[in-house]
Amino acid sequence: MLAQLENQFHDLYLEYFHKAEAHRRWNVLNDVPWADITTTPNEEIARVVQTFMAVEMYLPDYTSKIMHLVRSSRGRAWFQANWGYEESKHSLVLELWITKSGARSVDQIRAFQDDILSREWNLHYETPLEMIIYTTFQEFATSVNYRGLRRVAMQQSADPALDKALTLLARDETGHFEFFKNGVKLFMDVDRDRVLEALNKVIHTFRMPAQTLIPDFGAHGKLLKELGIFDDRIFLRDVVRPVLKALGVQSEELREARHRLGAA
Ligand SMILES: [Fe+2]
Ligand SMILES: [Fe+2]
Repeated sequence: MLAQLENQFHDLYLEYFHKAEAHRRWNVLNDVPWADITTTPNEEIARVVQTFMAVEMYLPDYTSKIMHLVRSSRGRAWFQANWGYEESKHSLVLELWITKSGARSVDQIRAFQDDILSREWNLHYETPLEMIIYTTFQEFATSVNYRGLRRVAMQQSADPALDKALTLLARDETGHFEFFKNGVKLFMDVDRDRVLEALNKVIHTFRMPAQTLIPDFGAHGKLLKELGIFDDRIFLRDVVRPVLKALGVQSEELREARHRLGAA
C-alpha cells in the first residue's frame, strides 16, 4: 500500500514538474516590466510587500525542515527541491520591487533581512500528513493574499511592475496548492478517516507563517484586515471553503468525523 502511495506521489510530481517547465517558468529580470515601475509607492502597500517578502525569506527553514520530514519519499522530496527554487524567486522579486520603487533603500532592506533571518521557523505539525494538509491551506491562503494585495495595489497606484510580479507569484502559489491538494487526496484514498481527523486538527489550529514569524504581526494583521486583503473571515470564506470543496469534503462530513473520531 505504501509503495503504491509513493508511486502515485512520484507520478504526481512528474506531472507537476513537466507542467511547470512547460507553462509556468518565469524570469525575475525579464518577465516583470521594471522600466514601467511607479517610483512613488503607497506606504501601506510597501509595508505589506515588505512583510510578504519577509515570510518568503524563511526559505532555508521551510526547505530543510520539510525536506527532512519527507526525505524517504522521492515524489515529495523532489517536489520540495523544485518548490524551493520557485519560492526563492518570490522574495527576490518582492525585494527588487521594494528597492527599485524607492520604498526602501538597499541598506534598509539588508538590515531588515538580517533581523528576519535571526529568527527560525519551525514545523507547525509533526507528521507528513498533517504538514501536507497544512501546506495545502497555507499555499491557497498565500495565493489569496497576493491576489488581494494586487487588487488593492491596483486601486492605489496601478504599478505595472508590481501588478505583474504579484500575478506571477499568485500563479506559482496556486500551482503549489494543486500539488499538495492532490497529495492529500492520495492520502484520502488510503485512509479517509485519518485525513478527516488531521483536517479537523489543522483547520482548528491553523496559523499563517507570518503569525509565528513576524514580531509585530498585530500591526501587520490589522493592516491586512483594514485593506481587505486577509483576516479570519476571509480565511474561512475564501480559503477553508474552496479548499474543502477541492478536496471533495463536505463540512457535515468533517463535523461528523470530529464527533465520531474525537479530534480537535
Ligand atoms: Fe511563495
Ligand atoms: Fe508557495
